[in-house]
Amino acid sequence: MKDRALNPKKVLIVDDDESILRVCGRTLASEGFEVVTSQNGEDAVKKLKESEFGVVFTDLTMPEMGGKELLKHVRQNHSFTCVNIFTGASTVEGAVECMRLGACDYISKPFGMNELTAMAFRCAGHYSHHLETARLNHDITAYAELDKLKSEFVSNVSHELRTPLFSIGGALDLLLQTMPELTDAASKKLVEVMHNNLARLNSTVANVLNFSRIEKGAFIPVFKNMDLAALARKAMKDLHPLFVQRGISAEPVSSSAAGAMIEADPEHMEQVLINLLGNAIKFTPRGGRVGVELSGGADAILMCVWDTGCGIAPQYHKKVFDRFYQVDGSIIRETGGSGIGLSIVKSIMEMHGGSVWVESSPETGSRINISLPRSRQKKEGGNHYGI
Ligand SMILES: Nc1ncnc2c1ncn2[C@@H]1O[C@H](COP(=O)(O)OP(=O)(O)O)[C@@H](O)[C@H]1O
Ligand SMILES: [Mg+2]
Repeated sequence: MKDRALNPKKVLIVDDDESILRVCGRTLASEGFEVVTSQNGEDAVKKLKESEFGVVFTDLTMPEMGGKELLKHVRQNHSFTCVNIFTGASTVEGAVECMRLGACDYISKPFGMNELTAMAFRCAGHYSHHLETARLNHDITAYAELDKLKSEFVSNVSHELRTPLFSIGGALDLLLQTMPELTDAASKKLVEVMHNNLARLNSTVANVLNFSRIEKGAFIPVFKNMDLAALARKAMKDLHPLFVQRGISAEPVSSSAAGAMIEADPEHMEQVLINLLGNAIKFTPRGGRVGVELSGGADAILMCVWDTGCGIAPQYHKKVFDRFYQVDGSIIRETGGSGIGLSIVKSIMEMHGGSVWVESSPETGSRINISLPRSRQKKEGGNHYGI
């Protein structure tokens, strides 16, 4: 779009009859239009080059360049400008053809000034509308491009981070295995700090990466038979150092489910557990308790990650699943986070034909529940990938 001052009420009147220019010009000017006049087509083209007009009124028959040619010029070069044709009784057919070529309307001579004014207002309105639509489209396109760039950037950076993190993890393990002299309390404590923070970094990077994969539609579950209770026990064990560091009691995984076998993507389920347990630990003060309960029947399995922490007030029970949403409060300011964990959990549940919901209050702590169909057949309408 050209960067010109765009005034919808700027009107160009083109007619070889000077009296028409004078009367129409005066009338429209008194209605607040900015009027420019021209006595022939060539001069009109020149004026159109100099500035943008919202509305053009043109006579059809003029010497040299007629109204039809002028109309074609406007349609090719000024897409939003509305063109109206002045026509005499003998040229009505020509005016109708002009409508086919993209004129907004025509007005037969002799015409009244009210008619002219009404038409000018209508066309200025059309012009504004087209302009606004074009601006919005332009903004949307620019926004979509920026959004795509941002997503690619986030995805690339998290990929880049994974390699060095992996190598730090390996080096740390090797250090623990090959240096038996590293047994004094101070060194142990340092290694523990490194381990815990590495785990935290790894899970943040995994979350960001999975988040961008979900946005791209590239986080597709691969279903396998798996034991959810065993995975929950493993997750609790992996998080053991964090429980110790935070002074929180890790309760044994309880399972009243008749076996916890389900058909699901193990990597996705691990992400769900890490996020829910990570939250439970993060939002539970020292001395609190965190646990996992499994229950369910033949068709579905229920898993609840519970804690005795700060809880979530009822008005936020749905909102916490929105992308980037974090309940405002001092504990979050202290603990950080990015607000994407629960939105990932929700997407994973949707891809598995399951659901997730919150039961929580600031007095009792939180229970984050998930329900999953035992097998792929139990979910109606899903394809092989559950989407
Ligand atoms: N177990 C919990 N106890 C209290 N608040 C929670 C719990 N789990 C989630 N929340 C609230 O939901 C918000 C969103 O969680 P999440 O999407 O995992 O983001 P993050 O952990 O990065 O803040 C948290 O910031 C917190 O306000
Ligand atoms: Mg979280």
